Amino acid sequence: MVRILGIETSCDETAIAVVEDGKRILSNVVASSQEFHSPYGGVIPDIAARVHVEVIWQVLEEALQQAGCGLSELDAIGVTQGPGLPGALLIGLAFAKGLALALERPLVGVDHLAAHLYAGEMTQPSVAPPYVGLVVSGGHTLLCVVHPDQRFELLGETKDDAVGEAFDKVAKCLGLGYPGGPAIDRLSDEGNRAAISLPRPIGKDGFDFSFSGLKTAVYHHVEQARRAGPFERAQAADVAASFQETAIELLMTKTLRACQRTGLKRLVVGGGVAANRRLRARLAEEGQARKFEVVFPPPTLCVDNGAMVAGLAFERLRLGRQSSLAMNIDPRLHLQEPATAA
Ligand code: KG4
Ligand code: ZN
Repeated sequence: MVRILGIETSCDETAIAVVEDGKRILSNVVASSQEFHSPYGGVIPDIAARVHVEVIWQVLEEALQQAGCGLSELDAIGVTQGPGLPGALLIGLAFAKGLALALERPLVGVDHLAAHLYAGEMTQPSVAPPYVGLVVSGGHTLLCVVHPDQRFELLGETKDDAVGEAFDKVAKCLGLGYPGGPAIDRLSDEGNRAAISLPRPIGKDGFDFSFSGLKTAVYHHVEQARRAGPFERAQAADVAASFQETAIELLMTKTLRACQRTGLKRLVVGGGVAANRRLRARLAEEGQARKFEVVFPPPTLCVDNGAMVAGLAFERLRLGRQSSLAMNIDPRLHLQEPATAA
C-alpha cells in the first residue's frame, strides 16, 4: 500500500489530497480564492498566489485529518509542476519540496493536464489506456490519445481561447461573475438553446478548436440587445443556452471525429468544463449511439483537485519517474513527461 499526498496550486484552488495506491481517495480538500476574483471576472494571479500562501498549511492539516493519516505515514509527495500561473505553481512546489526534504520522501512532479485525464482512470477500476482524451478546462482545450505506456499523442487543441475561458468571458458579459461555467450551466436551464444562431467554425478536417469567434458573436448579440432596450433575465438565459449548445457542438464534432479516426472505443473527458451537465448528457448519448464508452469523472474530480495529482504521481512513481529536488515549475508544460531525477 502506497500513500501519496497530492498538492495542486496551478490556478485559484489550493488543493491537497491523500490517495492510496493511485485510486483510493482518503481525503480531497479544496480551498478556493474564487470569491476574491469574482469582482474582476477572471483570476488575478497575484491574489491567487497570496491566498495559496495563506491557506496551504490549513489545507494540508485538514487533508491529513480527514484521511486519518500522519505526515510520517506518507510515502511520497506529488505536486503539479505545470501548466499554470507561475506564482501559484511556485507556492505549491516550494511547499512540496519542503515536505519531501523534511520527511525524506520522493518528490513527483506531474503535468496538470495529464492529471485531469487520470481523474477518469480513478473513476472506474476498468478504465485504462488506450483511450481518446478530451481536456476541457479554463486554460486548455485539447484532444489526445493516451497510449498504454502513458505516452500522449496530441491530436488537436484550441487555436485561441480555451472553452472554459469562453464560458467565463460570456458569463462576465452577462454579469454572472466568476467562475462563469457553472453559472452558464445553471442559467441555460431557463433558456432556449435554439434562440440565437451563432457561428460554428468546424472546419473540414483536423482536430483543432476555435472559440474566440463564438465569444465575439455573443458579445455583439448582447451589445445590440442592450442597445435595443432593457436586457431581461429571460434574454440572458437564451444567450447562455445558445452559447453553451454551440460550444458543446464544437467540442463534440472534433471529439467524435477523433474517436472515429483512431478507432478507439473509450473516451475520457477531464477538466473543469467536464462538470457541465449538458456536455455530459450529449456525449453520453453519442457514446451510446456509436457504441463507445464515455468516462466522466465525478464533478469534484473534474475541477482542480489534489486527488488527481496524487493518483498520477503513484503511476509515475511506479514507472520510476521520481523528480529531483532541483525540479522547477514549468508554466508551459504540455502533456510532457515532467523532468525525472538525475
Ligand atoms: O480544470 P479547472 O478547474 O481549472 C483549470 O485547469 O483551468 O477548470 C476551470 C474552468 C473554468 O473556466 C470554469 O468556468 C469551468 O472550468 N467550469 C465549467 C463548469 N464548471 C467549471 N464550465 C462549464 N460548465 C460547468 N458546470
Ligand atoms: Zn485544471
